Amino acid sequence: MPDTADLLRRVAEQSISYLDGVADRPVGRPVAAEALRSALGAGPLPDRGDDPAAVVDGLVAGAEQGLVASAGPRYFGFVVGGSLPAALAADWLTSAWDQNAFSYVSSPASSVIEEIAGRWVLEVLGLPPEASCGFTTGATTSNMVGLAAARHAVLARVGWDVEARGLIGAPTIRILAGDEVHASALQALRFAGLGSDTIERIPVDGQGAIRADAAESMLAGTAGPAIVLAQAGNVNTGAVDPLGPIIDAAHGVGAWVHVDGAFGLWAAASPAYRHLLDGLVRADSWAMDCHKWLNVPYDCGFVAVADRAAHYAATRMTGAYLVPAADRDLDPFDWVPEASRRGRATTVYAALRSLGKDGVAELVDRCCALARRMADRLATEPGIAILNDVMLNQALVRFGDDDDRTRAVIAAVQEDGTCWAGGTTWHGMAAMRLSVSSWATTEADIDRSAEAIVRCFRNAG
Ligand SMILES: Cc1ncc(COP(=O)(O)O)c(C=O)c1O
Repeated sequence: MPDTADLLRRVAEQSISYLDGVADRPVGRPVAAEALRSALGAGPLPDRGDDPAAVVDGLVAGAEQGLVASAGPRYFGFVVGGSLPAALAADWLTSAWDQNAFSYVSSPASSVIEEIAGRWVLEVLGLPPEASCGFTTGATTSNMVGLAAARHAVLARVGWDVEARGLIGAPTIRILAGDEVHASALQALRFAGLGSDTIERIPVDGQGAIRADAAESMLAGTAGPAIVLAQAGNVNTGAVDPLGPIIDAAHGVGAWVHVDGAFGLWAAASPAYRHLLDGLVRADSWAMDCHKWLNVPYDCGFVAVADRAAHYAATRMTGAYLVPAADRDLDPFDWVPEASRRGRATTVYAALRSLGKDGVAELVDRCCALARRMADRLATEPGIAILNDVMLNQALVRFGDDDDRTRAVIAAVQEDGTCWAGGTTWHGMAAMRLSVSSWATTEADIDRSAEAIVRCFRNAG
């Protein structure tokens, strides 16, 4: 058997050297899957195993050309944060400890770390301190949990036990969501058995936020079970739905409000931005990610529910051998869809403890200011237009007011490798999406990236 200590030291050195160089490597040039398959030894699994050190060295060499420098400072694709040093180190510990963090009895330390981290997240975001929480694999699963709790509550009110009886023959649930609802919430609706085509779409404004007047008039007169899916942080524009008016209108007719705030919920941590989420605390459930704007390694999402009983009813698990902890909060498996699971909250504990409340606010403010700086830099170039109000950390850019040119610039930027940005369609127009979500990004990174984007635009002319 190999010496585990030697192997871990070797991996630590390899990881450190990767991170030392991550800011200087091309961020994410296109690579053919066939090249990666060959570099990583695709084909039948050999009968005899390799030496562990050789396995690790092979991974390092084989993955090299297919690694995307999203841990670096100039990755602006999707909504991707890096890893704060304390969070990354805590992630290594999590693997070394190898705790089954599903229950108190299987890992008392993981349970208590998770409990503390969950309370801190509620505190930082100004959510109700008594809400129940769960750490999930991401916002999609968090949306699913929030919707499962919602489904339980609105059907229980009309005497239907959905966990026992399922949805066949159940009273109809009205589901309303903004026209710009995220694909993940639709997927969560499908998982929850509610269907994604059943939603009634509420008209949105030019930034993609629900129009409060439209929500109010569509909700008026609702009599039976109803769920409203609101969003904090449109994935293209960053727009936040007007939560206060939506919640007032929904609660007025007994509807449940779930907020999908995968990244945007973190804006509530900043005194400068929290006004955008006015009313947030009065929602019924909240879904978001820690692996996005909090900058912990993948994967880590978070869900909170104001009605603890509804949450518990939707996700609890019982079994003769599952001895419950004295305090239910200490058994994570009661609050998420998984049983056996990684102690993923350890990274959140470390991130929050290393940042403190001020540090989280500063991270949010900095990313928003950098997104604004990027938009301002790009807008000075004739022919480049910013399509959104850059209210958070997202910017939408169009080149030459032309779809083909915009797509050509996106491809050229990805090939150039200085930074990475993806594409989208906004109001029928091709656009580049820029999301500034990493703790590591500096003003110099923004300026260097903006120069590269402008250069690609001029060359693609
Ligand atoms: C608003 C919103 N909801 C949900 C998601 C999905 O999050 P995850 O990929 O962590 O499941 C995203 C991802 O960007 C998002 O922006």
